[in-house]
Amino acid sequence: MGRVFVAGSINMDVVATAERHPRVGETVAGEAVLYFPGGKGANQAVASAKLGVPTTLVGRLGTDAFGQELRTFLAAQGVDLAFVKDTADTHSGTAIITLANADNTIVVVPGANARVDADDVAAPVLGKGDVAVSQFEIPLPTIAAFFQRARAAGATTVLNPAPAKKADAALLDLVDILILNETELGYLTGTELRDRDAPARFAEAAGSLAQGKIVCVTLGKRGVLALVEGQSILVPGRAVKAVDTTGAGDCFVGALASQLAIDKPLRDALAYANVAASICVQRMGAAPSMPTAKEVEDTLSPRRPGEGR
Ligand code: RIB
Ligand code: NA
Repeated sequence: MGRVFVAGSINMDVVATAERHPRVGETVAGEAVLYFPGGKGANQAVASAKLGVPTTLVGRLGTDAFGQELRTFLAAQGVDLAFVKDTADTHSGTAIITLANADNTIVVVPGANARVDADDVAAPVLGKGDVAVSQFEIPLPTIAAFFQRARAAGATTVLNPAPAKKADAALLDLVDILILNETELGYLTGTELRDRDAPARFAEAAGSLAQGKIVCVTLGKRGVLALVEGQSILVPGRAVKAVDTTGAGDCFVGALASQLAIDKPLRDALAYANVAASICVQRMGAAPSMPTAKEVEDTLSPRRPGEGR
């Protein structure tokens, strides 16, 4: 059984809830201000750790109050923080989020996340069967260094290129599994994709990125489409009542990585991660909304009345 290593961002999400999002130049009255641990790296690490798979996070925090709070929270979720450094001269990553009708807008200010460097990712020792995960909220050269080491150690590399950014072919070449949403897929392939496009259109765009890797396109309510050696697998979404979709993509990534680390076949891992994400959207916040293995399993195969376990 392998371990999951996530090199990525750690943020405090400062969330203002309102009845609707303001337009540019407009002010709307909000309802509440909430503070949730977040950041794509931290969210993915929490998703994996809560599912019971040993998970190490590599990242940086500021020496501010948010930093301390985030460290305490992540430790309580069972994430190994031995490679999370404190950085004195900058603040902890902070995301300013507006939440209305379960949908968000996010402005993320990297702070300490921008300092995660090649030395940081060289510190943990990866081995065969491990899964190395990263996203685009830390510097891209750091991700490349991390994946080079992971590959050399025989680990599987998983990239979630979010938020969308230009990435060179050399970085994408280091990736075994690419997990992205419609927007990121459109961005990386230079195609215009819309929510309601047919899965075949997503598959075609994903195909142009594949080059021997597995590409998973998360389609929100519609589920997930995976392209494996030219074959597409569609895992349909689950109809649930979403209250906050922040971190749902991260939940999918962390859950998938965790299941691959314990050698689950890809199809089963996809279905499992899809269920995990559908639980995540039914709760407020990013990292605090990640489900446990029991919650995912109970949803995958609900116990019928009178049936023991
Ligand atoms: O993917 C969701 C995350 O993106 C939030 O937790 C926020 O911190 C931003 O990084
Ligand atoms: Na959530």
